[in-house]
Amino acid sequence: MARFSTRAILAATRSPAVDQVPSAVPIYQSAAFSTADAAELGDVLTGARPGYAYSRIDNPTTAALGAAVAELESAEAGLAFATGMAAIHAAIISTVRAGQTIVATQALYGTTRDLLVRILSGLGIETEFVDPTDVAVVEAALVRSGAPVLYVETISNPTIIVADLAALAEAAHRHGAMLLVDNTFASPYACRPIERGADLVMHSATKYLSGHADVLAGVVVGSRERVDALRPILVDAGGALAPLAAFLVLRGLPTLAIRMERHSQTAMELAPWLAGQQGVARVHYPGLATDPSHEVAARQLDVFGGMLAFELAGGREAGRAFLDAMLVAERTASLGAVRTITTHPPSTTHRQLDEEALRAAGIAPGLLRCSVGLEDVEDLREDFERSLAAARAATP
Ligand SMILES: Cc1ncc(COP(=O)(O)O)c(C=O)c1O
Repeated sequence: MARFSTRAILAATRSPAVDQVPSAVPIYQSAAFSTADAAELGDVLTGARPGYAYSRIDNPTTAALGAAVAELESAEAGLAFATGMAAIHAAIISTVRAGQTIVATQALYGTTRDLLVRILSGLGIETEFVDPTDVAVVEAALVRSGAPVLYVETISNPTIIVADLAALAEAAHRHGAMLLVDNTFASPYACRPIERGADLVMHSATKYLSGHADVLAGVVVGSRERVDALRPILVDAGGALAPLAAFLVLRGLPTLAIRMERHSQTAMELAPWLAGQQGVARVHYPGLATDPSHEVAARQLDVFGGMLAFELAGGREAGRAFLDAMLVAERTASLGAVRTITTHPPSTTHRQLDEEALRAAGIAPGLLRCSVGLEDVEDLREDFERSLAAARAATP
């Protein structure tokens, strides 16, 4: 009979045999998986047979998340990553080599811009930034640069511009480029870029997919071939998602539709109300018939979503005062959660941009970005009313 420590190790690592199907995907919180013999391990590690060997390579819970998001995005395959940025990084570097140029839209999440400008340019990959709403300009940049990749956000962060994905996919493909789309702001409930011709679609699953601000995760979906091309980057660079994190995102997916409906309904009430308030110079929300993105959004989005932005006439000072007065909305940089989050991009997510770069990205000094949560709309309106009064008082 084995001694105590040996018995304890064997007793505590014996997986239960379960014949019935669990209601939730189990959390396979295991770094490694053992095999019946050495030949099986070799086969699994080399991909000669399906299976699991080591959770950086593959894990049943994270695999379930990749497959679930792929299904919701009308894609063949999906791969989960530790964060949205790990997913975006892997998607980009699977498609571009040193010496090549990426064409990306100006209206872009600040860290994605940093990845392109600060990290990839140091590796010999340049980026040309273009206006996403002008397909002729995008096409000219693709021709001039011979770029293999056009990179866009379905709904841009933080300016809430809706890209015409079908037109951009057509332009990209006409010039031999792939279309990569960050679909974080829309979620697959509002838009499925693959159906419009996108080649790879990325998510920060930290946001709407999980929905509760309690996990960091990312996902890339696309054709099986393109997603298979990402796997060596996942394995070699090590951006694998933890099983518990995958479980938390999986738990969010069944309520995505009802959350997105409620986010959209509340945003649709707040946007026109905000537009009529004193001290608000402009509201960016694709659900407004007057919004420059409305026509594209009406064609492309099933709901207009929970992200809106508004410009305070009082500029930076007004933005700061507004944030400081909020009691219901949360002051933080994330989005897509149950709680409303309002942020001032010029001093937070896009602080790395100087005034000129902010202007070029269409970000006014008094721009506030709001991720409309699931609270009662009356409470949000009261919170905004109080914060607008504080903003006006701060900037006579
Ligand atoms: C549009 C968009 N894409 C990607 C990311 C990065 O996601 P993560 O923080 O999960 O790395 C964010 C984060 O805010 C985002 O807003």
